Parts: sequence; structure tokens; C-alpha cells
Amino acid sequence: MRTFTLSALVLGMHLTGAKAQTVQVSLKGKDTNVMISRHIYGQFAEHLGRSIYDGFYRNGKIQTGIVEALKKIRIPNLRWPGGCFADQYHWRDGIGPVSKRPVTINTTWGMVKEDNTFGTHEFLQLCEMLNTEPYIAGNVGTGSPQEMKDWVEYLNLKDSSQLADLRAANGHPAPYNISFWGVGNESWGCGGNMTPEYYADLYKQFAAFCPDYPGTKLKKIIGGANADDYNWTEVIMQRIKPNQAWGLSLHYYTIPTGNWDKKGSATSFDEQQYAHTLKAALKMETIVSRNEEIMDKYDPKKELALTVDEWGIWTDTEPGTPGYGMFQQNSLRDALIAASTLNIFNNHAARVRGANLAQTVNVIHSLILTKGDQHILTPTYHVFDLFKVHQDAMLIPLAIESPLYIKGNDSVNAVNLSASKDSAGITHITLANLDPNKPYSIKIPLTGKILSGQLLTSGKVTDINTFTQPDKLKLQVFKNVKTDAKGIVVQLPAKSVVALALK
Ligand code: AHR
Repeated sequence: MRTFTLSALVLGMHLTGAKAQTVQVSLKGKDTNVMISRHIYGQFAEHLGRSIYDGFYRNGKIQTGIVEALKKIRIPNLRWPGGCFADQYHWRDGIGPVSKRPVTINTTWGMVKEDNTFGTHEFLQLCEMLNTEPYIAGNVGTGSPQEMKDWVEYLNLKDSSQLADLRAANGHPAPYNISFWGVGNESWGCGGNMTPEYYADLYKQFAAFCPDYPGTKLKKIIGGANADDYNWTEVIMQRIKPNQAWGLSLHYYTIPTGNWDKKGSATSFDEQQYAHTLKAALKMETIVSRNEEIMDKYDPKKELALTVDEWGIWTDTEPGTPGYGMFQQNSLRDALIAASTLNIFNNHAARVRGANLAQTVNVIHSLILTKGDQHILTPTYHVFDLFKVHQDAMLIPLAIESPLYIKGNDSVNAVNLSASKDSAGITHITLANLDPNKPYSIKIPLTGKILSGQLLTSGKVTDINTFTQPDKLKLQVFKNVKTDAKGIVVQLPAKSVVALALK
């Protein structure tokens, strides 16, 4: 498989008149042999607000409309039951006859009643319907190694045992063979306010008692750092060997104002706030790079995956909805953030081999919003639709020296992109132009016949889809690309995401 290193030169100057500034990307042939793991496109469903109850699950039924929409974008894994909720969840509460399950209190999110009608079997049925891999977060905060071990045995043991027989009695004689297991969540915060030293010991204790039952090799994921807490990563890497886990997680949220108590509106923001928010979102590049550097010191062969298993833009909740529910709208700005973040993950695919958008339905940076049994697709859903082609394709590394989009004191690279070649030999390129005012002309030396072009944009970066206008933002056919012997030239509109396929 041939892959390339790209370096980019900004050729064009600011031209007067309508002609867009040109950004030229150069190719340097080099084999890197890096696959973009499909697990970068993972999702997240927590017992929080209307994610599960009145979202994925209503009146005791999995919502098939949501399932169909998510199947279309091929989600590779679904993380559950939290989040912070995971560290108070006791799996035995959510198995067996529904009428006999206890009512507990969700003390993390709003003190609401948790009737446990959506438990392990319901989650795994959802995953089966979605054709996606389950990613279960185990309880370290209020659980025990024994409880987590029992959950693994309940789900993965084929032979007869008390727990495997209980699973069969609950309707599933065959083992579920679950590979992805998180060991706690945000142990530096809601998961127990631990130091990295203390958590590293706990991780090893829990991991030691969760065996690979025949037929299923566990992929254990170490609870990772909060944003730019590089000391957490350093201590973990010093104390846990790469062969003691599959991955190390990382959580980073974009907070528009930078203030967790007043995060900023999802729908009402001016251009200055827009630029400021993008700058915060693109900090992901620095955070991922610094984590890579630290991991490379202890694990130069990159055995351990970095898995950003919570990311997204987190704003104030929609007026009239409870704060603990984290229900927020989703604008073109948020789609641009999603595209740029996925481009970052793709370009770091040698180390970033997992990520989970927080969260898929009705919570924070959602793909889907629901009202009763109706649902709408957000602009970010369409980004995941455009980017799904990169899943398990070979990375074509890109390094772009982009022109800057400057607003007041905030500046960011205006353009970002990533590219890959899939198993059918089709090259896929995804581009985002964050500048709300200026188009760019991007010259990319990747050759071939254009098979398709798709575009996501809208009149304003605040534009959203609503139940009265569900398709205000949707994918459009994009034809503004020319090919020649040297490559392609893309006329990238202001505030847009474009995906191209060529062969
Ligand atoms: O996604 C919402 C919450 O954000 C998660 O429960 C927690 O892990 C993070 O702080």
C-alpha cells in the first residue's frame, strides 16, 4: 500500500476581487502503512438526560428510526452506561425480569429515578440492531474488582457457571463476547477524585481480575487525562505497561466561553465568539500531539491506543430544559468543529485508534435530537455521514500550512483536511473551511477521476435543523472541483465541509 506525506505551501496572496486565495498542497511519496481505525468514529450513550430514556429507548422499546439513521453512518462502537454514571452503576440492577428490577437514584445526573428497565441485555440488543461493537465502561468508583469480573464472566463465558447460566436464564444462552472494557471513567473527577498514582494501582488491580474467557480477548481501556493534564498521562505511562491494556483514554470538550458555569449558547453567538470557540476546539491538535509525545517515550512501538472517548462542543442547555439533561442544539459551527476534529484524529491515526463523540442522542454534541417518537438529524450527523468512508482506510498523511482566519484576538487555521485510500482503491478527501467569509482554492496533488463530491454548508454558522425545518442543513452535491494531470483544484466555499472521492 502506497501512502504519502504531504507538505503544503500557501501560494496565493490575498487577491483582490472575487478570486479565492490558493492553497497548494504538495505530496512527498512515503509509505506509512497507517490504517484509520473505524473506532475513531465511535459513539456514546449514557444514562443522562434524554440519551437513553426518551431517546434511544421509549416506552420499553428501542427506537427503530434512530437505529436506521445510525446504521446509515456505520457507527463502529457504542460506549455505555457512562460517563460519570458508570462509576455508580451496578450491573446486576439491570438484568432479569423488568418488573423485579430495583428503582435506584441517578445521583450524578439530576437525582432522577433510574428504573433500570434499560440494562445490559437491552444495551446489547441495541448494539446488535445497530451492528456496532459494545464498549462497556466498568465501575471502579463504587464497584469492586469482583463486580467487574462477574460482569465480564456473565457476558463472555461460554461454558456453564453460575453467572453464564444466569445469562442463559435471562434469554441469552450464547456468550456476548464483549471486547471493549473501560476501567472506570474520569477517575480524576466524578469517578473518585483520584490521583494518577492511586488510579494506576487500581487499574492494575481491576485489570488483573478481568480475564480473557475463551474466544474473547479483552481490550481494556485505562481511564485517561482531563484535557491538557499531561501529568496524568505521564504517571499512567510510567506505571502501566503497554501490554497491560489495549488503550488509554482522553477526554476533551470544547467550551465556547471557557467558563464551565456559563458555557455559552448553542444557537446565539457572534463572529467573535465563533472564532474563540473554534480556537478552543482546535486545541485538540495540541492535546493529542502532546499525549502522543508522552506515550511515544514509554511505548515507542505504539502498542497502546490513544482513545479520545469523550469529545465534542458543550454549550448551555436549551432554554426550558433541565441543566443536568445537557440537551443542546447543534449548528453549522458544531459541524465544522466535528469535521476538523475528525480530520485531526485521522491525521493522528497511528496513535489515535478510538474516539467517542459525546453524546449521540439528545445530549451535548448530538447526531440526533428527538421529540416524542420523532427525530431530526443534526448538521454533525451529516459530517459523520461524509467521513464514514475513512473507516479502516489507509491514511494519506496531510500537513497543511493553512492561511489564518483571524477575528479580533482569535486566529485559527482556516482550512484543514485529511485523506485516505480504501480497500477498493478509492481516495477520499475531507476538507473543512472554518472561515465564515472567505472561500479558498485548494490544490491537492492527488490524481484520479472524480467519482463524487458532497458539501455541507448554510447561510449562517448559527443555522440549525429543527422539527419545523429538519433539512435546513443537509448534504448537497458538490461539483466545484477540477482535475488535471497534477491533481485536483477544489473551490472550497466559506464555512463548509466538503468530501470528495476519486479513483
Ligand atoms: O458526557 C457528559 C459527562 O462529561 C460524562 O458523564 C463525563 O464523563 C464527562 O465529564
